[in-house]
Amino acid sequence: MTADPSKLNDDSRRLHDRLLHVSRLAAVGEMAAGIAHELNQPLAAVANYAQACERLLGLPDPDLEEVRDALRQITAQAVRAGDIINRLRGLTRARGARGEPTDVNSLIRELADLIESDARHHQARCRIELTDGLPPLVLDRAQIQQVVLALVRNALEALAEVPAPSREVVVRTARARDGDITILVCDNGPGIAPTVAQRLFDPFCTTKPAGTGLGLASSRTIARAHGGTLEHRPNTPNGACFELNLPSQR
Ligand SMILES: Nc1ncnc2c1ncn2[C@@H]1O[C@H](COP(=O)(O)OP(=O)(O)OP(=O)(O)O)[C@@H](O)[C@H]1O
Ligand SMILES: [Mg+2]
Repeated sequence: MTADPSKLNDDSRRLHDRLLHVSRLAAVGEMAAGIAHELNQPLAAVANYAQACERLLGLPDPDLEEVRDALRQITAQAVRAGDIINRLRGLTRARGARGEPTDVNSLIRELADLIESDARHHQARCRIELTDGLPPLVLDRAQIQQVVLALVRNALEALAEVPAPSREVVVRTARARDGDITILVCDNGPGIAPTVAQRLFDPFCTTKPAGTGLGLASSRTIARAHGGTLEHRPNTPNGACFELNLPSQR
């Protein structure tokens, strides 16, 4: 749907609007199917554990430790369902940046400990390269930090597929055109699987057994809420590179 509606006559404009409407409905339908699928798992688990509790408590001499275990599972699954819903809300709520002028480098420095310990945990090296003298940007610090952490987490998860000694993730800040600032997160992992390359930023697009596929989708929503972009390109010689571009003025 790339036609410019202003150049269409009445009939074709109606058709254009109708097609847009149908494609939006299709997107909503796809989204609803994804949400249903994601929430079904924790809900089914909660129901199973609750039934198990009832059965255990019906025994003449119930093993309370087993009941406690099942209750803990119920809590964990309910938290997981809540987490999915929160992340979905992050997807639709394109909150404007509630920000104030922020030094992007200091925002990354605040995350350095977290990133480095996560990298150690994944037996990966981590380089943080900050370009000096970047202009401050008005942005929502917590939201941008959430994006950086999601990208680093993806990089570390992808690096599990390469031998530990060569695993490396780089977080870099750089000056882009017109005073814009770019935050890059690059890894030397296997790169994006061709099967998902076209749908990478779609909600629920995941190749991971326990992934929700919401990390990149909500990250792009945040980037756009800041008037910026989030794009992917292959790293050289191998791996993936994600580029968060933030405009100097919104
Ligand atoms: N650095 C990367 N290298 C290779 N593949 C990646 C990388 N980052 C993302 N991907 C691919 O993109 C998919 C979508 O990523 P996204 O962060 O949206 O969801 P996820 O990581 O699968 O799940 P979640 O973020 O909810 O844990 C991943 O499943 C993976 O296949
Ligand atoms: Mg992810």
